[in-house]
Amino acid sequence: MSWTPTREAFDQYMLPNYSPQKVIPVRGEGSRLWDQEGREYIDFAGGIAVNGLGHCHPALMEALKAQSEKVWHLSNVYTNEPALRLARTLVEKTFADKVFLCSSGAEANEAALKLARRYAHDTAGEQKNRIVSFRQSFHGRTFFTVSVGGQPKYSQGFGPVPGGIKHGTYNDLDSARELINDDTCAVIVEPMQGEGGVTPATPEFLEGLRKLCDDHKALLIFDEVQCGVGRSGHLYAYMHYNVTPDILTSAKALGGGFPMGAMMTTDEIARVFVVGTHGSTYGGNPLGSAVALAAVETISSPEVLKGVEARSQRFREHLQRLNEKYDCFSDIRGLGLLLGAEFKPSFGERGREVLAAATEEGLMMLVAGPNVLRFAPSLVIEPEVIDAGMACLDRALARVVANS
Ligand SMILES: Cc1ncc(COP(=O)(O)O)c(C=O)c1O
Repeated sequence: MSWTPTREAFDQYMLPNYSPQKVIPVRGEGSRLWDQEGREYIDFAGGIAVNGLGHCHPALMEALKAQSEKVWHLSNVYTNEPALRLARTLVEKTFADKVFLCSSGAEANEAALKLARRYAHDTAGEQKNRIVSFRQSFHGRTFFTVSVGGQPKYSQGFGPVPGGIKHGTYNDLDSARELINDDTCAVIVEPMQGEGGVTPATPEFLEGLRKLCDDHKALLIFDEVQCGVGRSGHLYAYMHYNVTPDILTSAKALGGGFPMGAMMTTDEIARVFVVGTHGSTYGGNPLGSAVALAAVETISSPEVLKGVEARSQRFREHLQRLNEKYDCFSDIRGLGLLLGAEFKPSFGERGREVLAAATEEGLMMLVAGPNVLRFAPSLVIEPEVIDAGMACLDRALARVVANS
């Protein structure tokens, strides 16, 4: 018997850890989505920076269809071709010599943190186990990554938390200097904080962390789960900053909508992950790897990467125009196509209200905290779709202002 899922059914059947919007999208194409009633929406959210090439991109569809007719899953007992093709491409396009494949950002960070602890253990001894992270950071929801993340609200109530983790202030090198010492095994940082408010690191901060890590023989981990895979206008944001990490984690846009994650590092560090130290049933899944290869190859083309800056500029111009009209933003920031617009204190913490009004006006977008609007659209969004989406946001802001 056919059954049409409803928003009420979500509350009936799913755990209450999410509170989705009323709209139920059922189809997507490029930067547009359609709901159950056939109503069209412009997508400035990209599934929270996941659909880096929009919905149903032809190159990704082709890769998925072709692989689905060959083999869907192989255990890690066998070498699988798509996983190796993806790993080889990531190695060729980045600083890394070796890749560990998994299925999510949290898993990639979990692997990175375990690798850093193991490397320190094997090369310096057990006492070198301290991890330095930063407040407002987000690294995933596994128990280890949520404890390393810098937003206590996500780890409260799950104690006792794993030990040896300290949090400094983002973009404050003095605060990092106070925490990093010879017992530090790793410093983990997002080159641009996503969930924490769309805040890019200053070049001095990342350069300073690199030097502190070198001085204390600690590993520098860049969490590029949200800001990587083209979003900064470079394949990875470390290329924008010209600061090379020891370990880099990637997920979200890596699979363009298919669950994929990767942890990349150098030969010297990788060698401590000997057989049996770590693993994942789905890591390197052939379907996901085939799609991710198509995503990485498409996104790393000069045409797509160059287009990011022009689109970013168009977003910024629209946001500035809206700010002149409504006097609502205190800051418009970000890199490439991960942009944030922070509301003035006088406007209030009205991100969710604007989000709801935007949905009613036919625009899907994001917030990062209560007072920052977040934009993470497809990297190939058409200029006229940006204009149409911004017209929706204009109407949404007008409604919210009229309600004040
Ligand atoms: C920077 C960063 N790291 C890690 C994660 C966790 O990724 P996932 O939800 O795929 O586990 C996220 C998710 O938002 C993220 O933004």
